[in-house]
Amino acid sequence: MPKSQFDPLEFNQVTGEPYLRLPAPHDNIIITPPRMSDAPAMVLNMSDPRIYSWLESPPHPYLPQDADHWLTKIKAESDRAIEKLQRASVERPDGPLILVDESPVRTIREVQEDGSELFLGDIAIIRERWLDLEDKEAKQALTKANEEREVGDPAIVWCFGDYLAASHHGKGIMTAVVQKFIRDWAVPRMGVRQLRVETFSDNKGSKRVFEKSGFVHEKTVPVNKVLNSGRTITAMDILWWKASQ
Ligand SMILES: CC(C)(COP(=O)(O)OP(=O)(O)OC[C@H]1O[C@@H](n2cnc3c(N)ncnc32)[C@H](O)[C@@H]1OP(=O)(O)O)[C@@H](O)C(=O)NCCC(=O)NCCS
Repeated sequence: MPKSQFDPLEFNQVTGEPYLRLPAPHDNIIITPPRMSDAPAMVLNMSDPRIYSWLESPPHPYLPQDADHWLTKIKAESDRAIEKLQRASVERPDGPLILVDESPVRTIREVQEDGSELFLGDIAIIRERWLDLEDKEAKQALTKANEEREVGDPAIVWCFGDYLAASHHGKGIMTAVVQKFIRDWAVPRMGVRQLRVETFSDNKGSKRVFEKSGFVHEKTVPVNKVLNSGRTITAMDILWWKASQ
């Protein structure tokens, strides 16, 4: 039987949303499309110093309209990916599976015993933008060339952004999310062959998540960044993941 154009995503029978489920022991955790109703949970998370201190771009203080604005943007991206897969299901029901440039799923949720879902965080995959490079022209040139590559081009450099609610830190969840997302979505359905991530150098937890997921530390770069929260960042670590062939 041909594989669904949504493979390996499953579908929520009630909401109709596609999702990825983590393997045991985290099989109560799913990665789904974002929802506009996530806004209050986002505001709570982005107001928590255990999260915002480690992220480069969120506004500070983080207001409900910031969450609405962000969710509108990322929901449109997810909807676009879903539409492409739906169209491919009609046009090529017998395959081959198409590659997509965006992910339909990114929001991490914990399924509770009563079936309700608790918002836990986010994993975003985007084309790399070299946030550590202070030479603006070099940064723009690299970013532009990377953007112009056709989906599936193995030379595309991809990047992850992620965060998890502090109530759930230290349980191995993000490591499981990163590994599942790379293996089951990014590689087979987006054609990802290399990922480059930047972490603030004092973010030992994030660095460890990536190392446990097969990323290799390339270098530590001095930077001079002041976050919206006022925190100053003086160094970033660069790590790479590369497909084995
Ligand atoms: C970074 C983050 C995503 C990690 O998620 P998580 O689910 O807690 O991560 P895991 O439990 O899978 O793994 C964390 C690892 O880091 C280690 N770790 C955590 N804090 C550490 C510290 N201060 N020093 C050294 N190691 C640390 C843990 O011991 C664990 O490693 P181990 O399994 O070898 O013991 C989460 O802490 C978070 O959302 N932080 C705020 C946002 C953020 O930093 N995002 C990433 C931006 S680059």
